Amino acid sequence: MDNFKFHAYTEILFGKGQIQQLPAVLSKYGKNVLLAYGSGSIKKNGIYDSIQSLLSDFNVIDFADIEPNPHLATVERGRDLCLAHNVDVILAVGGGSVIDCSKVVAAATFYDGNAWDLVENSSKITKALPIVTVLTMAGTGSEMNKGAVITNTETQVKRGTGAWTTIPQTSIVDPTYLYTLPAKQTAAGSADIFSHVLESYFKRTPDAYVQDRMAEAILLTVIKYAPIAMVYPEDYSARANLAWASSLALNGILGSGKNGAWSVHPIEHELSAYYDLTHGIGLAILTPPWMRHILNEDTVDKFCEYGVNVWKLPSDMPRFDLANAAIDATETFFESLKIPMTLHEVGIDASKFEVMAKKAVELGGLAYAYVPMNEKDVVEILEACK
Ligand code: NZQ
Ligand code: ZN
Repeated sequence: MDNFKFHAYTEILFGKGQIQQLPAVLSKYGKNVLLAYGSGSIKKNGIYDSIQSLLSDFNVIDFADIEPNPHLATVERGRDLCLAHNVDVILAVGGGSVIDCSKVVAAATFYDGNAWDLVENSSKITKALPIVTVLTMAGTGSEMNKGAVITNTETQVKRGTGAWTTIPQTSIVDPTYLYTLPAKQTAAGSADIFSHVLESYFKRTPDAYVQDRMAEAILLTVIKYAPIAMVYPEDYSARANLAWASSLALNGILGSGKNGAWSVHPIEHELSAYYDLTHGIGLAILTPPWMRHILNEDTVDKFCEYGVNVWKLPSDMPRFDLANAAIDATETFFESLKIPMTLHEVGIDASKFEVMAKKAVELGGLAYAYVPMNEKDVVEILEACK
């Protein structure tokens, strides 16, 4: 196992009714609260009103309309609000986009230059406003990690950043807040959790046994509960298990001790940078072709381990048959969540494959992935997604 630093920093207040603790949580930081949220789902489902009534003793400043795949311009708008209103704490209510945007706003408030500098170079993040989150969508794990992904729409670059100062102080995770998620977002979030686990699972480190068994448990959880949440959006057990799986998949516990770059996320970030695609949908489309592309004599045993432990395939099958059956099972699972499984279905043609491949290799460090990939590899994977 590789050396690592793991710090489970964020306080998680999990379960029905935990929102009642919000005033006590926020009052540790001050009275001026920036309430960050998206395009209005929290107004429709009542979360906005319940938060406003709980915060009657606070000075609440609205920071609305944070878009999916949040833009740099939105970060700048949030920073201006923080400076104008002397904000003490950011309350991010939403999914990964709202939380990620809030993290960079929190850091940009203490930075004199262009906020994009903080995205390009996380070492420039020295200080940040405290962040408290109320999660409304399971998927990114942003509620329990320091990462933030921002898109510069002028240059069509989507990049991740983050520092220990941008990790949420407290996250309130009430599974009932996920009941109103549209099926498409439930599926996309589930695919995102699945992919986060795979990104850590498929690594070179030979002896990370405990991480890999935990990884399989989270994959099994998604396989069990995502289909239930799709059909019964108000199934508490399904929402609760998916929400906790989201946090555990990307709070560092699976990836610690397993060095190396991720494989599929860098490619997906190019799809969403150029086409504003829903992150989890892009991951689901890319994952089976990526798996088929990297399956070889060197990797086949890892795919067999995955097939036996996750998909319960018979261990005595011929190795490549077993590996291919595991990949097929992955694809069938995403299809069962009604995810469109080709780029064509989501309106993406081949015209930008080369430029996206070049950027994925450069920005994502794909030379250091589980199976190193160059531009040609990425184009071949994209071609297989057509
Ligand atoms: O904007 P509103 O109206 O809130 O609607 C949102 C949005 O349209 C809706 N939604 C969220 N909760 C809802 C709801 N609708 C009804 N009821 C609810 N309870 O869902 C839509 C998608 O929300 P978004 O926050 O964009 O989704 P997600 O959580 O998947 O976040 C995606 C972003 O996170 C980044 C992605 O790249 C993308 O930019 N990621 C962040 C990571 C991190 N911080 O660690 C890691 C990930 O790999 C990922 O890259
Ligand atoms: Zn992701």
